Amino acid sequence: MCLKTGLWALAVAAFFSQLCCEDTSTHPPKPISRGIYVAIGSSVKLPCGDGMTKGTEWRVNGSMLVSGPVLHLHNTSLEDQGIYTCHSPNGGHIETLHLWMGYAPSPPVVQCWSPSYPLKAVCSWTQTPDPILPTYYIATYWYPRTEQPLVHSCRRESDQDQQCILEELELYATVPHLVNITAVNALGSATRILPILIDDIMKPDPPVNVKVTLQPGRKLHVQWAPPPSWPDPVNFTLKYKVQFQWDKRKTASIMGPYESLSMVRSGLVPGRTYHIQVSAMDFMGQGQSSEWSDPVTITLPTS
Ligand SMILES: *[C@@H]1O[C@H](CO)[C@@H](O)[C@H](O)[C@H]1NC(C)=O
Ligand SMILES: *[C@@H]1O[C@H](CO)[C@@H](O)[C@H](O)[C@H]1NC(C)=O
Ligand SMILES: *[C@@H]1O[C@H](CO)[C@@H](O)[C@H](O)[C@H]1NC(C)=O
Ligand SMILES: *[C@@H]1O[C@H](CO)[C@@H](O)[C@H](O)[C@H]1NC(C)=O
Repeated sequence: MCLKTGLWALAVAAFFSQLCCEDTSTHPPKPISRGIYVAIGSSVKLPCGDGMTKGTEWRVNGSMLVSGPVLHLHNTSLEDQGIYTCHSPNGGHIETLHLWMGYAPSPPVVQCWSPSYPLKAVCSWTQTPDPILPTYYIATYWYPRTEQPLVHSCRRESDQDQQCILEELELYATVPHLVNITAVNALGSATRILPILIDDIMKPDPPVNVKVTLQPGRKLHVQWAPPPSWPDPVNFTLKYKVQFQWDKRKTASIMGPYESLSMVRSGLVPGRTYHIQVSAMDFMGQGQSSEWSDPVTITLPTS
């Protein structure tokens, strides 16, 4: 791939130098400025002007690099990035180029979950190694049940955003939906196709409005509400777990699951501080539990 990219850069360089030379045959040489993208670790050849003229030289950051018409950079690294200028024998400025170093994208690592079962899902993705160069993403999905499935674009705030929303998913899907996340930059592109079964990827958002009240007899009454993003808590019921932590959150006990929106815990220790969190899960146990809600802290009276 590095060789290919090197050749690509060479081809582009050759192409631009042709533009440059058509110009120089009839007009005095004009400095032209352009960007060249090179994969880290590859080699690149940059011809100055027509790449033939004796006495030309390349400079970077003002100091001379080579005396000769072609600059070879071997096993390039990020430090080779910079502004390169090429000069004619009389010192005239032939061209300026900005060399950008980076990597072609690798197939994104994609993760999808559905906090709004069954109609919506979210996919997010990461790129390693960091391609360094500006990289944008194309995100699409489709339901491959028909011969010519309709490809939807996955909704995002911006092209740089590494998260998108799948809407109007097929209910009662018998085969997985397919998600295509393609990363593109100046050095290439890479695609990941991820099959998703909506039942397997459901993951509610955490419950909200967690309230803890003290009741007589050293009891705590914990109440909560379903995550607002869960569209239909009536037909797609959730169940809940409640976590109590104490001893600077070093000790924990988890209670539940509960189908109700409250529970009472007794047998608590006077003077002890408890941190209480609630998590939601599909009633049938499909998919994943939500993250824990933000902790609510309460200290029991000493007497
Ligand atoms: C290329 O450079 C890297 C680090 O700059 C080095 O580890 C590697 O051995 C070099 N490879 C070759 C083929 O010279
Ligand atoms: C040129 O100078 C810049 C800014 O000081 C530096 O980051 C870059 O590494 C230099 N390029 C080369 C090839 O020395
Ligand atoms: C994935 O998306 C890219 C960019 O839109 C496209 O070029 C490619 O053909 C798609 N791959 C499949 C298998 O649909
Ligand atoms: C639950 O399902 C029934 C029948 O499918 C439907 O009529 C009702 O609107 C659904 N409930 C909610 C809250 O959407």
